[in-house]
Amino acid sequence: MGRIIIGLDFGTTYSGVAWVLDNCPDEPEVITSWPGRGNRTSPKVPSIVSYSNGKFLWGYQATLFGENIRGIKLLLDVSQSEEVASALSSVELLKQNQKTAVQVAGTYLKQLVYNANQTLDRRFGTAVKSMDRQYILTTPAVWSDKAKDATLTAAVNAGIARHEIALISEPEAAALYCMHAIQPNTIRNGDVVVVCDAGGGTVDLISYCVKTVSPLSLEEVVEGSGGICGSMVLDVRFNELLDELIGKNKIPINSREMALKFWQEDIKPNFANDLDDKDETHFIPLPGVKDNRKISLRDGFLKLDGSRHYLIQDQVHGAQASKNTVMAILLVGGSGSSEYLFQRIKKAHRGITVMQPPNSWSAVMLGAVQHGIEGNRVGKRIARRHYGVQFRSDSSAYNGRFPDVKREWCRLNETWYLPGVMNWYIHKGGEISEGSPICMPFSRSIAVENASTMIFSDPLLVCNRKSSPERVEDTVFQICTLETDLSRVPAYLFDLRKNSCGQKFYKVN
Ligand SMILES: Nc1ncnc2c1ncn2[C@@H]1O[C@H](COP(=O)(O)OP(=O)(O)OP(=O)(O)O)[C@@H](O)[C@H]1O
Ligand SMILES: [Mg+2]
Repeated sequence: MGRIIIGLDFGTTYSGVAWVLDNCPDEPEVITSWPGRGNRTSPKVPSIVSYSNGKFLWGYQATLFGENIRGIKLLLDVSQSEEVASALSSVELLKQNQKTAVQVAGTYLKQLVYNANQTLDRRFGTAVKSMDRQYILTTPAVWSDKAKDATLTAAVNAGIARHEIALISEPEAAALYCMHAIQPNTIRNGDVVVVCDAGGGTVDLISYCVKTVSPLSLEEVVEGSGGICGSMVLDVRFNELLDELIGKNKIPINSREMALKFWQEDIKPNFANDLDDKDETHFIPLPGVKDNRKISLRDGFLKLDGSRHYLIQDQVHGAQASKNTVMAILLVGGSGSSEYLFQRIKKAHRGITVMQPPNSWSAVMLGAVQHGIEGNRVGKRIARRHYGVQFRSDSSAYNGRFPDVKREWCRLNETWYLPGVMNWYIHKGGEISEGSPICMPFSRSIAVENASTMIFSDPLLVCNRKSSPERVEDTVFQICTLETDLSRVPAYLFDLRKNSCGQKFYKVN
């Protein structure tokens, strides 16, 4: 029996699951049946959880009138703009339910996995129990290491074994899928393509040079960009528009939900017009709200015409970040299927082919399973931050620089040192290759009498600043601790030295 590879796309607004058997890699299946959806199918399920009235509901089960917890994913990355994240998510509801974002994300992922397992049970019967699994979980390209760790914790809370989980970035997964899904010969060796995953919460952009089409080999060309400017931002703007027009406390919660649902399901997805076209008119249901002629609100319907479509403009800005000489822009994700976005990007980048691959809403999960099958296809990536460790450096090399920093005397080496100096071994914007180690000299002096343990801990530090600081400062923070256990290395292999006072010490390199 083969191994089951499961791609999990935990989205801000919608999530999806695809799976494939590693011995039938060409036949991935996207899960399309969900509790609460009856016989209707959908490749994705709303990323919603509700604990209203002591009852747990998720995805399509959540009703229009429940207290629905949304946008949880954005709260997993505290480094993203807190303001935006909290505007789009249910911070208050979390507090009321005394739950953390990681807990709720875990609960939600558990349901996703449970639902996927039910499909697998149907396909394989009892044999499924003895089959190995690998879960490929996707995260936005802009996620910090901390946010990725929070996602991992949520997945472990969902009952997935840590060793069965691998993470891959969403645009990378989408790119893998696109390369297979687009028509043959549209991309040739050496072409540069930009993949734009325009989702509900984030818009992620990544650029690859296609070294070879077959077998697929990619290299990242510029540092990927993105941010919280997904389609959900438009929902927030729509909400604000309602507040502006009618007044914050004048719309009953159920009416607001209904208007929002209409906006999300009818107006936004079907919007294809040119910005200049003012003719498009929509009537938004707002039951129970008093008539107001001034704003064309009558009989429970608000008239919204083309003059208000400036709302959409914001969306496009997020997707226009790339200024490379590119061959093609590949649009995926929910808002990536927007006709409007397609036309706007086409207009703004004449001469570049803009493509919307088939099944682009499922691109991320399908790319994730593909990654599980093929392994890494990206030869070079561009580092998104600086990574390094701190050390103390011989003070004499600094010619009196950093005069305010107190020098430290090392009685073993009999040298003055400048503490807190950074050794950055990965630079933001620099190339990194998976599988090729980065080597650098690093040594420490240990007095012989202290050499019994030989276990060391060093914090691994990161910095997001454009240029890397020479010393530790408040833009440098720790992401994890590196442990080095040399206790089983025989002492005679270390370099034994003696200083002028006769003190013996090891120089551990
Ligand atoms: N044609 C369309 N035009 C604009 N927006 C659309 C369209 N179709 C769907 N959307 C929006 O796309 C979003 C869903 O996209 P998707 O499933 O890719 O996002 P997600 O995976 O939840 O978010 P993210 O990847 O940012 O975490 C929803 O907000 C939906 O309203
Ligand atoms: Mg997504």
